[in-house]
Amino acid sequence: MGLATHLRLGLIWLSLAATVYVFFESHERLNPTSEFRRAQNDSHRFTQALNSCAHSNDVQPPIKEQQHWSSDENLTVINRDFFEYLASQLRDTRYPGVETHTRYVVAKTRRKYLLNVKPLRPDFGPVLNDVTSFNYPIQISRCRDPIVRGGPSLFVAVISAPKYFHKRDIIRRTWQRHLQMQSDLNSMNLAGFGFIVGLTQGDDGIQKRIEDEGKTYGDILQIEMIDDYYNLTFKVVGLLNWVNDHCSRVDYVLKVDDDVYVNTHNLVAVMNNLNSSEHSMYGSFAEGLPNRGGKWYISFEDWPWSNYPTYFRGAAILMPGITIGPLLAASQTTPFLPFDDTFLTGLCTAKAAITVRISDRFFVGGATEVPEPCHVYTSITWLTDSVAQLNNSRWATENFYNNLTHCTLNDPGGANQTVNSKKDKFHFIFSTRADGQ
Ligand SMILES: *[C@@H]1O[C@H](CO)[C@@H](O)[C@H](O)[C@H]1NC(C)=O
Ligand SMILES: *[C@@H]1O[C@H](CO)[C@@H](O)[C@H](O)[C@H]1NC(C)=O
Ligand SMILES: *[C@@H]1O[C@H](CO)[C@@H](O)[C@H](O)[C@H]1NC(C)=O
Ligand SMILES: *[C@@H]1O[C@H](CO)[C@@H](O)[C@H](O)[C@H]1NC(C)=O
Ligand SMILES: *[C@@H]1O[C@H](CO)[C@@H](O)[C@H](O)[C@H]1NC(C)=O
Ligand SMILES: *[C@@H]1O[C@H](CO)[C@@H](O)[C@H](O)[C@H]1NC(C)=O
Ligand SMILES: *[C@@H]1O[C@H](CO)[C@@H](O)[C@H](O)[C@H]1NC(C)=O
Repeated sequence: MGLATHLRLGLIWLSLAATVYVFFESHERLNPTSEFRRAQNDSHRFTQALNSCAHSNDVQPPIKEQQHWSSDENLTVINRDFFEYLASQLRDTRYPGVETHTRYVVAKTRRKYLLNVKPLRPDFGPVLNDVTSFNYPIQISRCRDPIVRGGPSLFVAVISAPKYFHKRDIIRRTWQRHLQMQSDLNSMNLAGFGFIVGLTQGDDGIQKRIEDEGKTYGDILQIEMIDDYYNLTFKVVGLLNWVNDHCSRVDYVLKVDDDVYVNTHNLVAVMNNLNSSEHSMYGSFAEGLPNRGGKWYISFEDWPWSNYPTYFRGAAILMPGITIGPLLAASQTTPFLPFDDTFLTGLCTAKAAITVRISDRFFVGGATEVPEPCHVYTSITWLTDSVAQLNNSRWATENFYNNLTHCTLNDPGGANQTVNSKKDKFHFIFSTRADGQ
């Protein structure tokens, strides 16, 4: 049997299996080997039946003949060995899209739909995750509506680990201050700013300090969830839910990690050039492939496919405010992945029909200890690997825009151009890219 047939078969089975409810026959009673052979045999007959009816108008699979599952309008029963056989056929094939992923996970995990949760978008399908019931023990104020209509309005969410008091402190004294200055000058409108933290496990005084920090600065948004590396998807979804309730009218939401420096000059210029009515998201392309070992490990069972959809490096992304509601609705109906960036910018964007727009200068690595003037000029955000580098980025940025340091761009053909930092704007180009390329 050809691979294509296997696949077609697998997908039909998965979609049937996911119809309403999946039931696996009691495992103990079965001899896996003979079950597996029977499953193979069944799939042969199933394929033959499919082929033989390919010429007729009757495209219904021969449901009545199957012994390993049965179906009525509300119930699909599938044998676990048979499911595993089908799943093995998917291994290392191309990722087929978010709908098939959803059906696959529902069938695999016997996920029940949450009938008591109100769907945000009934057209997105049944609810799988309760994404609208988060609690927020420490809050920030809702987004302000602009008094004077300056430039685009922005809510900034800095994803931060509870214990990183120091990084938050540096950010408040560096790029957040720059952003506030831009806002005061009306080149943009800073509608809200928050550090997004979760709960610490085993309280060692950190919770008390965070509460004090929240009282002092009013910029801590705490989500009631365990702040764990492998739980970042919960955190991002909790953030989307809060923004949807309290900030949905902003033009843009910037989500950055607490080790990212933001060049507010370039951010504001880019926001002024983009169209916030477009259903797009902006960031830098992540080259990630499913990893079968190491830190980003995902098993074949959880992700049988050979590739991920196009997604962003999650450390810095810019989302128009109008995409927040659709993204939250997508997260309600799409099974979670442990990797928040793949989940949000790869799966949920596809579900919500949001275009992923890529610039390799949106989030940049490899800055020197004091970033070079040309690095400052050509980058919107960059990764820092120490608190000192985060701090130094402020001087690198201020010196460049105050004309104390200079960037000379190499032009291999003609004369090298020294940038006039007061006037010359670097032209950031966002492109859509074919899946995984
Ligand atoms: C496969 O199915 C056919 C038709 O039902 C049956 O005659 C045959 O014994 C089956 N073979 C195995 C290995 O189960
Ligand atoms: C399927 O579910 C619907 C709605 O819950 C119910 O009205 C219908 O009777 C069910 N059909 C069968 C065959 O159980
Ligand atoms: C993630 O957070 C949720 C909500 O607090 C919790 O139920 C779950 O156990 C956490 N998972 C991990 C891996 O920490
Ligand atoms: C912005 O995008 C919207 C939606 O695509 C479109 O209707 C509008 O014309 C665009 N505005 C500009 C200035 O391009
Ligand atoms: C950040 O830089 C300023 C000015 O150079 C310096 O006074 C301060 O100690 C630095 N802070 C850290 C944490 O490096
Ligand atoms: C910036 O500095 C350069 C070199 O020091 C100087 O030639 C230029 O006039 C300065 N530009 C402005 C706008 O001050
Ligand atoms: C431009 O800069 C490069 C590298 O700094 C240098 O090798 C080259 O000679 C310069 N070209 C001109 C025309 O000055």
